[in-house]
Amino acid sequence: MIVLRNLTLRRGAKVLLDKVSVTLNPGEKVGLVGRNGAGKSTLFGLIDGSLHEDGGDFSMPAQWRLGQVAQNMPETSESATDFVLAGDTRLMELRAALAKAEAAGDSDPDDHAHGMEIAHLHSDLADAGEHDAVPRAQSLILGLGFLPSQLDEPVNSFSGGWRMRLQLARALMSPSDLLLLDEPTNHLDLDALVWLEAWLKRYAGTMLVISHDREFLDAVTNVTLHIERQQLTRYGGNYSAFETLRVQQLELQQTAFSKQKEKIAHLQKFIDRFKAKASKAKQAQSRVKALERMERIAPVLADADFTFEFKEPANLPNPMLAIRDASFGYVVEDAPPKTILRGVSRSVMAGQRIGILGANGQGKSTLVKTIARDIPALGGTITEGKGLNIGYFAQQELDVLRPQDTPLEHMFRLARELGASSGEPGREQDLRNFLGTFNFTGDMVKQAVGTMSGGEKARLVLAMIVWQRPNLLLLDEPTNHLDLATREALSMALNEFEGTVMLVSHDRALLRAVCDEFWLVGRGGIAPFDGDLDDYQRYLLDEAKRLREVARQDAAAVDVPKVPREKKEKPAAAPAQASATPQEQRKQDAQERQQLATRLKPLKRELEQAEQRMARLHDEQAGLEARLATALPPAEIAQAGQRLKAVTGELRDLEERWLALSGDLESFER
Ligand SMILES: Nc1ncnc2c1ncn2[C@@H]1O[C@H](COP(=O)(O)OP(=O)(O)OP(=O)(O)O)[C@@H](O)[C@H]1O
Ligand SMILES: [Mg+2]
Repeated sequence: MIVLRNLTLRRGAKVLLDKVSVTLNPGEKVGLVGRNGAGKSTLFGLIDGSLHEDGGDFSMPAQWRLGQVAQNMPETSESATDFVLAGDTRLMELRAALAKAEAAGDSDPDDHAHGMEIAHLHSDLADAGEHDAVPRAQSLILGLGFLPSQLDEPVNSFSGGWRMRLQLARALMSPSDLLLLDEPTNHLDLDALVWLEAWLKRYAGTMLVISHDREFLDAVTNVTLHIERQQLTRYGGNYSAFETLRVQQLELQQTAFSKQKEKIAHLQKFIDRFKAKASKAKQAQSRVKALERMERIAPVLADADFTFEFKEPANLPNPMLAIRDASFGYVVEDAPPKTILRGVSRSVMAGQRIGILGANGQGKSTLVKTIARDIPALGGTITEGKGLNIGYFAQQELDVLRPQDTPLEHMFRLARELGASSGEPGREQDLRNFLGTFNFTGDMVKQAVGTMSGGEKARLVLAMIVWQRPNLLLLDEPTNHLDLATREALSMALNEFEGTVMLVSHDRALLRAVCDEFWLVGRGGIAPFDGDLDDYQRYLLDEAKRLREVARQDAAAVDVPKVPREKKEKPAAAPAQASATPQEQRKQDAQERQQLATRLKPLKRELEQAEQRMARLHDEQAGLEARLATALPPAEIAQAGQRLKAVTGELRDLEERWLALSGDLESFER
């Protein structure tokens, strides 16, 4: 049980929680919600022990093991599998202990105590799930969208977003009683998101998850904690239930408030009228008291609504960009450049609103980065219109912020870079006013950016972009970290923007509201996408499946097979289904059957192996049970008991695996 009693929590000069009391029960799945900067991540800090309460009490069971996603970017050259595996701390400790015991045992092979210790460690390792640890780690990695060919690749060869996914997998790998997830969906695409939801639904421990994604919260939580104006309120139910309850509550409160206001006015009128009259003075007096005693109901304050707008661009070059036969990709040290997209010829016109779609890792960010001149094009030309002024929101938005500096310093620097002379009188006030329109008020303009919340940082980057007065907005996942109200504000501002928008986003509501045409990045090229966003969702799921299949067939995964290059004006939604002659069709069918068989082979093999091992374990289990039923010396009872436990555990896991495998095979064969 997690208990907060009269708890106060501060950060800097801010009181985030003021004397709050809340209890969370074991096994509850809790969504922690509230505006950017409300104190959600700070509350996690209290629970994980990195922060302490400033008043009141906080308690949770001392023996609870905590699972949490590390926030740092891993820099190791360990393989993805090993990195995730190491999340299972218990297993790692046991392995280390075993290695040590074996090393010590080598020097004196006859030492009996050592032998026992090693035997125990082996049995503990079996309990800890040693036998299937690697497949468990790998199924987490694959579930989060990696390709089988990437399992052994070094962690530091992945891009930022993918490394954060590995951090997530590592946290899920660790055996935990309490799982803390702070915006886990930010780096995920649709199919990884669906997978994570399914995984979390099966999670047996207590879970607290911070998210601004309503659908995700609805899928995985059954209790909602809401932080608002320094209060923490518990609602039984998922996010939608919370919203309904809250609206009702607010309405009730508003009605009660209005009623009370009427009553107060009435009392006051009475008092004012009669306090002069001696005969009524007493009645007036008692009413004055009644008024004083009355506990005032707070009016319902609308959340400080936040809106902003992009400035009108100084000019609108048309076209903004002309891309001719360009290739996009990246350069890695000591290796030839890696091309991801080739043969791209497209123009971007003034006023276009382009949504850039595509599965993860297909090159959306690479395209956007190249257009933003962060990295060079690997071939072809990109011609910019005269006076092009790009406002770029990078996916790793923190790249443009300096943690030590304050918002005001960031704005000063920007103003200087844009050619305005610094230190002009009144300049600081202008910048302060400007920051104020982005809800950075009072002390916040002087707070180091490194201590700000995720949403606050993203909001600062938006402010800096607006200041630059761009005519082309390149936005790469701008809504990660933003709360719902700020997303809404962004969506409105984008709608009124007169320049051109190129938007990469997983936020379908935003894509729908802002974009009126789509480019699909995939299979090594870019093509217009004619379908709507539901078509796109289907496309993504199919594409993820296809990529996994390709990788499986072609273990070397040297190159993605050449699908006929999308003809320029043909929607890529239904690519490979060009009409085929009957012979071609038969050939294709036969090939597909062949491929299916190849793909099923390893599954079948694993299924057989599982069956054989299960049979052996069943026998051993029966033998052990029979032995334990006879009179045995205590030492042997202990040993047999332990072995039985290990065998039963392994059997249980194997059975689960067997069920999953048979299920997979069945659905494939269907
Ligand atoms: N060291 C600090 N000094 C001053 N203020 C701080 C410090 N650390 C955090 N804050 C402030 O405390 C508030 C709560 O931050 P926190 O990160 O908990 O917010 P959050 O609810 O997680 O927001 P988000 O949804 O944006 O992630 C923010 O306004 C932040 O700027
Ligand atoms: Mg946060």
